[in-house]
Amino acid sequence: MDESVKGAAVDESPSTREFLSTREFEPVARELLDPVHYDYFAGGAQDEITLRANEAAFARLRLVQRILRGRSALDLTTTLLGHRTTAPIMLAPTAFHRLAHPDAERATARAAAAAGMIMIAAMLSTVAIEDMAAEARKTADDPHLWFQLYIQRDMGFTRALVERAQDAGCSALVVTGDSPALGRHVRNDRNGFHDLPPGIRCENLRSLRADEPGHVRQVDLSPELSWDHLEKLREMTDLPLVVKGVLHPEDARIAADLGMAAIVVSNHGGRQLDTAPATIAQLPRVVEAVEGRLPVLLDGGVRRGTDVAKALALGAAAVAVGRPVVWGLTVGGEEGVARVLAMLRDEFAHTLTLCGCATPAELGRDMVVTEEAA
Ligand SMILES: Cc1cc2nc3c(=O)[nH]c(=O)nc-3n(C[C@H](O)[C@H](O)[C@H](O)COP(=O)(O)O)c2cc1C
Repeated sequence: MDESVKGAAVDESPSTREFLSTREFEPVARELLDPVHYDYFAGGAQDEITLRANEAAFARLRLVQRILRGRSALDLTTTLLGHRTTAPIMLAPTAFHRLAHPDAERATARAAAAAGMIMIAAMLSTVAIEDMAAEARKTADDPHLWFQLYIQRDMGFTRALVERAQDAGCSALVVTGDSPALGRHVRNDRNGFHDLPPGIRCENLRSLRADEPGHVRQVDLSPELSWDHLEKLREMTDLPLVVKGVLHPEDARIAADLGMAAIVVSNHGGRQLDTAPATIAQLPRVVEAVEGRLPVLLDGGVRRGTDVAKALALGAAAVAVGRPVVWGLTVGGEEGVARVLAMLRDEFAHTLTLCGCATPAELGRDMVVTEEAA
């Protein structure tokens, strides 16, 4: 922990033991955060239709248990791109953790490593990837950090970023494909929030090119990016490439054809194209399109162990969580994130038991129905 920035948030917070579900963290985090920063974390694009749709679509699905199947010991362990995790639950990349808690991504990385879960580190983190990796290694022998990348048209700069992530020990690159432009957030516009406050920077961008100050506005989001850039990326690195932001089955097929290692069905937590479909609603079409050629991951609206089970039953290999991790971090730093992750894992284990399953692989598509059919 960086003693100089050890903050008040933890001391003022209730014990995370008092929280009984991941949703309970948000209202407490809201109390603790600067309202402008709360809006940045919580908000979505435009009318926030997609933001709401993600959770609402999970709520419309019902799990159909199997009974009397004689299952005993549960085994949640999952292997993703050759990396063993304690559960099919990952940390989605979310930027700017320093706005949530002074320990920032250091705390998140420690909690993820201690939980034995894969953290997708955001390129726009406020702690350098090397420091995150060092914290993770202090906590676990074999932690897994994947690095989320916004490909920059300056391919020299992109290469420098990729090498930095690789040298830090990241074991996969997650390329965000759903951001050819910045989503329009009414809340941020109203609050005039368009860059980080003084003293907080995008640490991964600094020192990679002359005069790079690490400002958010330096980040290049461009509609010119194409699958060709993914091919160029593959020439730069042997790291497995994961494409995040897939919603259309045809894009899933292209990713599989190009030999991508995995895809993430994601609408960026409702922060990019508003009125994009809920991820869990779109998942079955994407799973069908790839015909098992690559693992399909999903994020967006996962708040309960039952949500994890629904996504896996519909064909996801794992899910990733965004905002709940941020709320946990805000409320309790490392301990808060640890609590959120533990809750999701425990709830998922309990759900599996109630569904008559001993492993995630035993969840099948026949075990999910829509509310209308239930
Ligand atoms: C505050 C915040 C910052 C985010 N920053 C990034 C980012 O830098 N890169 C990225 O690919 N996705 C980013 N995302 C999207 C998440 O990776 C993920 O798709 C989304 O949060 C999942 O939805 P959930 O928050 O409902 O779990 C961000 C999401 C939030 C909430």
